[in-house]
Amino acid sequence: MTLIELRAVSRAYDGGPPALNDVSLSVARGEAVAILGPSGSGKSTLLNLVAGLDRPTSGTVTVDGVRVDKLGEAAAAKYRRASVGMVFQFFNLIDDLTVADNVVLPAQLAGVPARQSHKRAADLLDMLGIGRHAKAYPGRLSGGERQRVAVARALMNRPALLLADEPTGALDTASGEDVKRLLVDLHADGQTVVLVTHDLSLARDCATRTIRLVDGRVAADTTVEPVR
Ligand SMILES: Nc1ncnc2c1ncn2[C@@H]1O[C@H](COP(=O)(O)OP(=O)(O)OP(=O)(O)O)[C@@H](O)[C@H]1O
Ligand SMILES: [Mg+2]
Repeated sequence: MTLIELRAVSRAYDGGPPALNDVSLSVARGEAVAILGPSGSGKSTLLNLVAGLDRPTSGTVTVDGVRVDKLGEAAAAKYRRASVGMVFQFFNLIDDLTVADNVVLPAQLAGVPARQSHKRAADLLDMLGIGRHAKAYPGRLSGGERQRVAVARALMNRPALLLADEPTGALDTASGEDVKRLLVDLHADGQTVVLVTHDLSLARDCATRTIRLVDGRVAADTTVEPVR
């Protein structure tokens, strides 16, 4: 069953060559896709369009039955809260909220009752091996721990889709391995994952499919048998 469908998607910024140029692709539920390609090839642009953070110049983006390219700002925010979890290279945690409060935030914004959301946050933090840091502030945590908090936050509202843009890009090797293992486990449990990375070992270990972008176009799209 298709979760993401891009049809003839282009995104041009003023004065430049198109960041994405006539890209069509679909991603099935349960796939783990790695987007590869040189700097400036359109990887983050693609992710942002799928997340409803940006709109295509032309073409259509459909996720989970929603025409994301047609959403206004408020509807896009609602779509993101309900359907998308995002993980970024530099964590994007709120430094003056505790770990638990960071994780709970998407549920709070979605109007989930506090008791229920705090229970889920605690469960997620335990599952990701950082339950003991629930009351700490993100600044006290290591990079790998912070990224696990970001993953917990991304999973809070049980999104159909987990997007990650260079999730190990700012981590040392050991922390990167932790985050990699986490993504592999989430995918094994059925989570659809689309991740952008320069790290070939992350792509190889996490993804069942790799899409290579060059100059805003799909240069290769390869499905691989998982090596486990
Ligand atoms: N807001 C923007 N305004 C103007 N140009 C932009 C904007 N965002 C991206 N671009 C341009 O679009 C192209 C693709 O950018 P994008 O960020 O998608 O690349 P990327 O593949 O993610 O690169 P990297 O690996 O360096 O993160 C680049 O040429 C970039 O300069
Ligand atoms: Mg990028």
